[in-house]
Amino acid sequence: MIGSFSFACFICFSPKQTISFALRSTMVSFPTSSSSSPKLLFRQLFEKESSTYTYLLADFSHPDKPALLIDPVDKTVDRDLRLVKELGLKLIYAMNTHVHADHITGTGLIKGKAPGVKSVISKASGSKADVFVEPGDKIFFGNLFLEVRATPGHTLGCVTYVTGEGLDQPQPRMAFTGDALLIRGCGRTDFQGGSSEQLYKSVHSQIFTLPKDTLLYPAHDYKGFAVTTVAEEMLYNPRLTKDEETFKSIMENLNLPKPKMIDVAVPANRVCGLQDLECKAS
Ligand SMILES: [Fe+2]
Repeated sequence: MIGSFSFACFICFSPKQTISFALRSTMVSFPTSSSSSPKLLFRQLFEKESSTYTYLLADFSHPDKPALLIDPVDKTVDRDLRLVKELGLKLIYAMNTHVHADHITGTGLIKGKAPGVKSVISKASGSKADVFVEPGDKIFFGNLFLEVRATPGHTLGCVTYVTGEGLDQPQPRMAFTGDALLIRGCGRTDFQGGSSEQLYKSVHSQIFTLPKDTLLYPAHDYKGFAVTTVAEEMLYNPRLTKDEETFKSIMENLNLPKPKMIDVAVPANRVCGLQDLECKAS
Protein backbone atom coordinates (compact mmCIF):
# COMPACT_ATOMS: atom_id res chain seq x y z
CA MET A 1 0.00 0.00 0.00
CA ILE A 2 1.43 3.34 -0.98
CA GLY A 3 0.55 6.30 1.15
CA SER A 4 3.61 8.38 1.74
CA PHE A 5 4.77 11.51 -0.02
CA SER A 6 8.32 10.27 0.24
CA PHE A 7 7.51 7.32 -2.00
CA ALA A 8 5.67 8.92 -4.88
CA CYS A 9 5.18 12.38 -6.33
CA PHE A 10 1.66 13.58 -5.70
CA ILE A 11 0.07 16.76 -6.88
CA CYS A 12 -3.02 17.76 -4.95
CA PHE A 13 -5.45 20.57 -5.43
CA SER A 14 -7.23 23.05 -3.22
CA PRO A 15 -6.38 26.57 -2.39
CA LYS A 16 -5.89 25.93 1.34
CA GLN A 17 -2.37 24.70 1.96
CA THR A 18 0.81 24.24 0.03
CA ILE A 19 3.16 21.30 -0.06
CA SER A 20 6.40 20.89 -1.93
CA PHE A 21 7.66 17.82 -3.75
CA ALA A 22 10.78 16.89 -5.61
CA LEU A 23 10.57 16.38 -9.36
CA ARG A 24 13.99 15.15 -10.39
CA SER A 25 16.07 18.18 -9.49
CA THR A 26 13.19 20.64 -9.40
CA MET A 27 11.23 21.67 -6.33
CA VAL A 28 7.71 22.71 -7.19
CA SER A 29 4.98 23.84 -4.82
CA PHE A 30 1.35 22.91 -5.31
CA PRO A 31 -1.82 23.67 -3.41
CA THR A 32 -3.22 20.77 -1.40
CA SER A 33 -6.76 19.57 -1.14
CA SER A 34 -9.22 17.87 1.10
CA SER A 35 -8.83 14.09 1.24
CA SER A 36 -11.70 13.53 -1.20
CA SER A 37 -10.17 15.54 -4.07
CA PRO A 38 -8.42 13.85 -6.96
CA LYS A 39 -4.76 13.28 -6.28
CA LEU A 40 -2.39 13.10 -9.20
CA LEU A 41 0.48 10.69 -9.02
CA PHE A 42 3.11 11.81 -11.50
CA ARG A 43 6.38 10.27 -12.63
CA GLN A 44 8.80 11.46 -15.29
CA LEU A 45 10.72 8.51 -16.74
CA PHE A 46 13.70 8.59 -19.12
CA GLU A 47 14.98 6.41 -21.96
CA LYS A 48 18.62 7.29 -22.46
CA GLU A 49 19.33 6.06 -26.01
CA SER A 50 16.78 8.36 -27.62
CA SER A 51 16.67 10.83 -24.69
CA THR A 52 12.92 10.30 -24.52
CA TYR A 53 10.71 11.15 -21.58
CA THR A 54 7.79 8.90 -20.75
CA TYR A 55 5.21 10.24 -18.32
CA LEU A 56 3.12 8.21 -15.90
CA LEU A 57 -0.01 9.87 -14.52
CA ALA A 58 -2.65 8.34 -12.25
CA ASP A 59 -5.62 9.41 -10.14
CA PHE A 60 -4.30 8.05 -6.86
CA SER A 61 -7.39 8.93 -4.82
CA HIS A 62 -9.68 6.88 -7.09
CA PRO A 63 -10.36 3.32 -5.83
CA ASP A 64 -9.03 1.82 -9.09
CA LYS A 65 -5.99 4.15 -9.31
CA PRO A 66 -6.46 4.50 -13.09
CA ALA A 67 -3.26 5.45 -14.90
CA LEU A 68 -1.91 6.36 -18.31
CA LEU A 69 1.50 6.48 -19.95
CA ILE A 70 2.45 9.20 -22.43
CA ASP A 71 5.10 8.36 -25.05
CA PRO A 72 6.32 4.98 -23.76
CA VAL A 73 9.42 3.55 -25.48
CA ASP A 74 9.71 -0.12 -26.49
CA LYS A 75 13.04 -0.56 -24.68
CA THR A 76 11.68 0.59 -21.32
CA VAL A 77 8.25 -1.03 -21.35
CA ASP A 78 9.21 -3.64 -18.74
CA ARG A 79 10.52 -0.94 -16.40
CA ASP A 80 7.36 1.12 -16.85
CA LEU A 81 4.99 -1.81 -16.31
CA ARG A 82 6.93 -2.89 -13.23
CA LEU A 83 6.52 0.59 -11.78
CA VAL A 84 2.80 0.58 -12.57
CA LYS A 85 2.47 -2.72 -10.73
CA GLU A 86 4.58 -1.64 -7.76
CA LEU A 87 2.49 1.48 -7.31
CA GLY A 88 -0.74 -0.53 -7.47
CA LEU A 89 -2.04 1.34 -10.52
CA LYS A 90 -4.45 0.19 -13.20
CA LEU A 91 -3.02 1.21 -16.55
CA ILE A 92 -5.82 2.10 -18.95
CA TYR A 93 -4.16 4.12 -21.73
CA ALA A 94 -0.80 4.04 -23.55
CA MET A 95 -0.69 7.28 -25.50
CA ASN A 96 1.54 8.95 -28.05
CA THR A 97 1.91 12.64 -28.77
CA HIS A 98 2.89 11.80 -32.37
CA VAL A 99 4.49 9.23 -34.68
CA HIS A 100 8.09 9.26 -33.47
CA ALA A 101 11.01 8.98 -35.87
CA ASP A 102 13.81 8.37 -33.38
CA HIS A 103 12.51 5.43 -31.37
CA ILE A 104 9.82 2.77 -31.46
CA THR A 105 6.79 3.40 -29.31
CA GLY A 106 6.08 1.00 -26.46
CA THR A 107 2.32 1.01 -26.98
CA GLY A 108 2.17 -2.21 -28.98
CA LEU A 109 4.30 -4.11 -26.46
CA ILE A 110 2.23 -2.75 -23.59
CA LYS A 111 -0.97 -3.95 -25.24
CA GLY A 112 0.54 -7.42 -25.51
CA LYS A 113 1.79 -7.51 -21.92
CA ALA A 114 -1.13 -5.73 -20.25
CA PRO A 115 -4.35 -6.76 -21.98
CA GLY A 116 -7.10 -4.18 -21.70
CA VAL A 117 -4.82 -1.18 -22.12
CA LYS A 118 -5.94 0.99 -25.03
CA SER A 119 -3.52 2.76 -27.35
CA VAL A 120 -4.24 6.41 -28.08
CA ILE A 121 -2.99 8.72 -30.83
CA SER A 122 -4.40 11.62 -32.81
CA LYS A 123 -6.70 10.92 -35.72
CA ALA A 124 -4.57 13.29 -37.79
CA SER A 125 -1.50 11.06 -37.32
CA GLY A 126 -2.91 8.50 -39.76
CA SER A 127 -1.70 5.70 -37.49
CA LYS A 128 -3.47 2.72 -36.01
CA ALA A 129 -4.68 2.81 -32.41
CA ASP A 130 -7.63 1.81 -30.29
CA VAL A 131 -8.65 5.40 -29.59
CA PHE A 132 -8.22 8.32 -31.95
CA VAL A 133 -8.31 11.76 -30.39
CA GLU A 134 -9.11 15.12 -31.90
CA PRO A 135 -8.64 18.69 -30.67
CA GLY A 136 -10.90 19.45 -27.71
CA ASP A 137 -11.30 15.81 -26.66
CA LYS A 138 -10.95 14.97 -22.98
CA ILE A 139 -9.20 11.81 -21.85
CA PHE A 140 -10.42 10.83 -18.39
CA PHE A 141 -8.48 8.72 -15.91
CA GLY A 142 -10.54 8.59 -12.74
CA ASN A 143 -11.62 12.11 -11.86
CA LEU A 144 -8.69 13.68 -13.67
CA PHE A 145 -8.47 14.37 -17.37
CA LEU A 146 -6.23 15.56 -20.15
CA GLU A 147 -7.38 17.88 -22.91
CA VAL A 148 -6.16 17.38 -26.45
CA ARG A 149 -4.70 20.35 -28.31
CA ALA A 150 -3.58 20.09 -31.93
CA THR A 151 0.03 21.25 -32.24
CA PRO A 152 1.10 20.22 -35.78
CA GLY A 153 4.33 21.38 -37.37
CA HIS A 154 6.90 18.84 -36.18
CA THR A 155 4.59 16.24 -37.74
CA LEU A 156 1.14 16.66 -39.19
CA GLY A 157 -0.55 14.78 -36.36
CA CYS A 158 1.26 16.14 -33.28
CA VAL A 159 -0.90 16.85 -30.25
CA THR A 160 -0.22 18.31 -26.82
CA TYR A 161 -2.01 16.79 -23.83
CA VAL A 162 -2.91 19.36 -21.15
CA THR A 163 -4.25 18.66 -17.67
CA GLY A 164 -7.76 19.93 -17.13
CA GLU A 165 -8.87 23.37 -16.09
CA GLY A 166 -10.61 23.79 -12.73
CA LEU A 167 -9.96 23.65 -8.99
CA ASP A 168 -10.35 19.86 -8.94
CA GLN A 169 -7.56 19.49 -11.50
CA PRO A 170 -3.78 20.00 -11.04
CA GLN A 171 -2.66 23.55 -10.25
CA PRO A 172 -0.64 24.77 -12.01
CA ARG A 173 -1.65 23.02 -15.20
CA MET A 174 0.74 20.64 -16.92
CA ALA A 175 1.22 20.25 -20.68
CA PHE A 176 2.89 17.30 -22.40
CA THR A 177 4.15 18.90 -25.56
CA GLY A 178 5.76 16.00 -27.41
CA ASP A 179 8.27 17.47 -29.87
CA ALA A 180 6.24 20.60 -30.63
CA LEU A 181 8.02 22.48 -27.87
CA LEU A 182 11.26 21.32 -26.28
CA ILE A 183 13.01 23.10 -23.41
CA ARG A 184 14.72 26.07 -25.09
CA GLY A 185 14.05 24.46 -28.45
CA CYS A 186 11.50 22.70 -30.63
CA GLY A 187 11.17 19.63 -32.82
CA ARG A 188 12.54 19.69 -36.37
CA THR A 189 10.11 20.41 -39.18
CA ASP A 190 11.79 18.86 -42.20
CA PHE A 191 9.96 15.50 -42.49
CA GLN A 192 6.71 13.63 -41.70
CA GLY A 193 4.53 16.47 -42.94
CA GLY A 194 6.46 19.00 -40.85
CA SER A 195 6.04 22.72 -41.41
CA SER A 196 7.89 25.52 -39.65
CA GLU A 197 5.01 27.90 -40.33
CA GLN A 198 2.53 25.48 -38.78
CA LEU A 199 4.76 24.78 -35.77
CA TYR A 200 5.17 28.49 -35.04
CA LYS A 201 1.40 28.99 -35.14
CA SER A 202 0.77 25.85 -33.06
CA VAL A 203 3.08 26.87 -30.24
CA HIS A 204 1.91 30.47 -30.15
CA SER A 205 -1.81 29.67 -30.33
CA GLN A 206 -2.02 26.42 -28.33
CA ILE A 207 0.85 26.46 -25.81
CA PHE A 208 1.83 30.08 -25.19
CA THR A 209 -1.85 30.90 -24.54
CA LEU A 210 -1.92 28.58 -21.51
CA PRO A 211 -1.48 30.18 -18.06
CA LYS A 212 2.10 31.41 -17.66
CA ASP A 213 2.81 29.05 -14.78
CA THR A 214 1.79 25.96 -16.78
CA LEU A 215 4.48 23.31 -16.44
CA LEU A 216 5.72 22.09 -19.82
CA TYR A 217 7.00 18.54 -20.17
CA PRO A 218 8.59 17.68 -23.54
CA ALA A 219 9.08 14.27 -25.17
CA HIS A 220 12.85 14.73 -25.20
CA ASP A 221 15.70 16.61 -23.63
CA TYR A 222 19.34 16.40 -24.64
CA LYS A 223 20.83 18.82 -22.11
CA GLY A 224 19.63 17.51 -18.77
CA PHE A 225 16.56 19.69 -18.35
CA ALA A 226 13.36 18.10 -17.07
CA VAL A 227 10.64 20.73 -17.04
CA THR A 228 9.99 24.33 -18.03
CA THR A 229 7.06 26.76 -17.95
CA VAL A 230 5.15 28.82 -20.50
CA ALA A 231 6.59 32.02 -19.01
CA GLU A 232 10.16 30.69 -19.25
CA GLU A 233 9.87 29.62 -22.87
CA MET A 234 8.16 32.87 -23.89
CA LEU A 235 11.20 34.67 -22.53
CA TYR A 236 14.10 32.36 -23.30
CA ASN A 237 13.24 29.96 -26.12
CA PRO A 238 15.91 30.86 -28.68
CA ARG A 239 13.69 29.98 -31.65
CA LEU A 240 10.10 30.64 -30.65
CA THR A 241 10.72 34.08 -29.17
CA LYS A 242 11.68 35.26 -32.69
CA ASP A 243 9.20 36.60 -35.24
CA GLU A 244 7.68 34.05 -37.60
CA GLU A 245 9.93 34.79 -40.58
CA THR A 246 13.10 34.51 -38.49
CA PHE A 247 11.79 31.28 -36.95
CA LYS A 248 11.13 29.80 -40.41
CA SER A 249 14.61 30.78 -41.56
CA ILE A 250 16.19 29.15 -38.46
CA MET A 251 14.24 25.93 -39.03
CA GLU A 252 15.02 25.81 -42.74
CA ASN A 253 18.75 26.09 -42.09
CA LEU A 254 19.26 23.53 -39.33
CA ASN A 255 20.80 21.01 -41.76
CA LEU A 256 20.20 18.13 -39.37
CA PRO A 257 21.13 14.56 -40.35
CA LYS A 258 18.30 12.12 -40.91
CA PRO A 259 17.36 10.35 -37.64
CA LYS A 260 19.15 6.97 -37.49
CA MET A 261 15.98 5.03 -36.78
CA ILE A 262 13.51 6.84 -39.03
CA ASP A 263 13.21 4.06 -41.63
CA VAL A 264 12.40 1.51 -38.94
CA ALA A 265 10.62 3.65 -36.37
CA VAL A 266 8.07 5.47 -38.52
CA PRO A 267 6.55 2.40 -40.23
CA ALA A 268 6.50 0.55 -36.89
CA ASN A 269 5.00 3.48 -35.03
CA ARG A 270 2.17 3.72 -37.53
CA VAL A 271 1.00 0.35 -36.15
CA CYS A 272 1.56 0.94 -32.41
CA GLY A 273 5.23 -0.03 -32.60
CA LEU A 274 4.74 -3.66 -33.61
CA GLN A 275 4.28 -4.41 -37.26
CA ASP A 276 3.12 -7.94 -36.57
CA LEU A 277 0.66 -6.99 -33.82
CA GLU A 278 -2.89 -6.23 -34.82
CA CYS A 279 -3.59 -2.84 -33.28
CA LYS A 280 -7.32 -2.78 -33.73
CA ALA A 281 -8.73 0.59 -34.62
CA SER A 282 -11.98 1.44 -32.88
FE1 LIG B 1 9.36 13.38 -32.89
